[in-house]
Amino acid sequence: MEKEQHIKIHETAFVTSTFRAFDENLSQDHFAKLWENLKTTKWINEYLELVSAEEPFTHCLRNRYFLETLQDLIEQQEIEVVINFGSGFSMYPFLLHEKIIHIEIDKPEIVDYKKKKIEEWENEHKIPKRNIHFMGVDFSKDYQKELLSEIQSIKRNKSTFILIEGVLFFLTRAETNKLFDFFNSIQENGDYLGSASFQETIKETQAFENLLRFFNQKVSKTTEDDYQTIQDNYYHSIKNYKVIDHQDYFSLSKKYKHRINQPKELILNENFYLLKKN
Ligand SMILES: C[S@@+](CC[C@H](N)C(=O)[O-])C[C@H]1O[C@@H](n2cnc3c(N)ncnc32)[C@H](O)[C@@H]1O
Repeated sequence: MEKEQHIKIHETAFVTSTFRAFDENLSQDHFAKLWENLKTTKWINEYLELVSAEEPFTHCLRNRYFLETLQDLIEQQEIEVVINFGSGFSMYPFLLHEKIIHIEIDKPEIVDYKKKKIEEWENEHKIPKRNIHFMGVDFSKDYQKELLSEIQSIKRNKSTFILIEGVLFFLTRAETNKLFDFFNSIQENGDYLGSASFQETIKETQAFENLLRFFNQKVSKTTEDDYQTIQDNYYHSIKNYKVIDHQDYFSLSKKYKHRINQPKELILNENFYLLKKN
């Protein structure tokens, strides 16, 4: 019974999808609801009450921002392959033009489950057929050599967009540096990189204090140092990349005319960066 109530880090992927389904108009994700299940819904109801009631909307706006960024770049013929690191159960492949090739990378248990469900839903015509390659990798292990050759065999000389969202909070700085070096080895000049992360000031908010208490009860015993925050200057000093756009929950709320309901203190404000390799 005790075990039932606990959630594992990879299960946060269910949570993100359910948040996106909360307001489909805002997220523009009409497929996220397919991942809904009783355990996650129960967990989310507690989370909204005990951590932050604004969370579904922060996730909806994150999806909207990256979706529209991808759509614009595809329209401008800037990208042919989308590589999603820690892709979880996000549904971009089905929301984007069918000509795009997708590479989805996450822990083996996540990609295996996603692959199975996607095949099922494609056969039931719940989602359109898309060109997706799933790769099971743990970013805390030694993955570079094998993953690079797997990715290269698919992308060849095509232009890419790498996305990493909802992941860096759970990784160490060393794992993050390794990933960004890896992105550089995959990408060519003119390719794009989208990343989402929290800044250090989040740790001073009531919402973060609530989150820590909640995670300690429901996930595992952790301290604030177990959750990575990333400052702007990290992105501005990534070698070979230039930040070409930077948003957060507040700027996106303005952009997409979303009315914020909670005081700042109760919002886990995430930052979103778009970088271009040059
Ligand atoms: C909150 S979910 C976000 C999923 C997706 N990016 C989205 O926005 O819908 C975090 C994802 O990061 C993945 N993840 C966390 N640590 C990882 C690691 N060490 N290696 C690979 N994936 C990891 C989890 O499995 C999970 O799918």
